[in-house]
Amino acid sequence: MLRVEDLLFVHPGQPTEYSFSFIAEAGEVTAISGPSGSGKSTLLDLIAGFLEPRSGRITLDDIQLVPLQPEERPISLLLQSESLFEHLSAGRNIALGLPPRTSKDTTRQKVGQALAEVGLSGVEHQIAATLSGGQKQRVALARTLLRNRPVLLLDEPFSALDDETRQTIRDLVKTLTIRHRWHTILVSHHADDVEQLAQRRYRIEAGRLELY
Ligand SMILES: Nc1ncnc2c1ncn2[C@@H]1O[C@H](COP(=O)(O)OP(=O)(O)OP(=O)(O)O)[C@@H](O)[C@H]1O
Ligand SMILES: [Mg+2]
Repeated sequence: MLRVEDLLFVHPGQPTEYSFSFIAEAGEVTAISGPSGSGKSTLLDLIAGFLEPRSGRITLDDIQLVPLQPEERPISLLLQSESLFEHLSAGRNIALGLPPRTSKDTTRQKVGQALAEVGLSGVEHQIAATLSGGQKQRVALARTLLRNRPVLLLDEPFSALDDETRQTIRDLVKTLTIRHRWHTILVSHHADDVEQLAQRRYRIEAGRLELY
């Protein structure tokens, strides 16, 4: 279980005092919604370690995450776009999820498996810039698979996609979350994303998270 307890934060020069508490279970999607500017991305940045809280705890099972640097945290992050290196092939982008000095054979095999899992077998050598928006998001998910981190943070990951692609990727996030026991935290404005995906739903009201 991922447990966020009394995480206090204030942006310099801003009036809102955030005090975040919530839990996210393994194998479940936990949704965070709230109006623009309510602090959703701020919350994800605190969990990812890009912002430092004044106090509070973030615990994954028994590990304290707050003292860890962003790259040390067991977390993957998927944004609305810009997650890929456009000039690299899909395969090279995915291979960035593997530890350094992974052998060529292992890399080829793991990249192939991850692409199959997101339904994109065969695009290894295609340059990322030439993929569609939905394909890019699936390549980013394939990289997440190879990173194999137990927490997945999604900030409006489906916003740039048409309805059909959106549905495909939504289903994929749900399947992968269950299969790999990820703690997936989804920030979305869209009620239908939240309804279809989330087992637990929170809304940010006045700097706090309310279950609904
Ligand atoms: N680096 C920063 N310095 C100061 N204020 C910031 C900073 N980043 C965000 N804010 C402010 O904090 C508030 C919350 O921003 P945040 O990006 O978390 O909102 P959000 O809920 O993700 O909004 P959106 O739905 O538009 O993405 C906003 O008022 C924003 O202006
Ligand atoms: Mg945001």
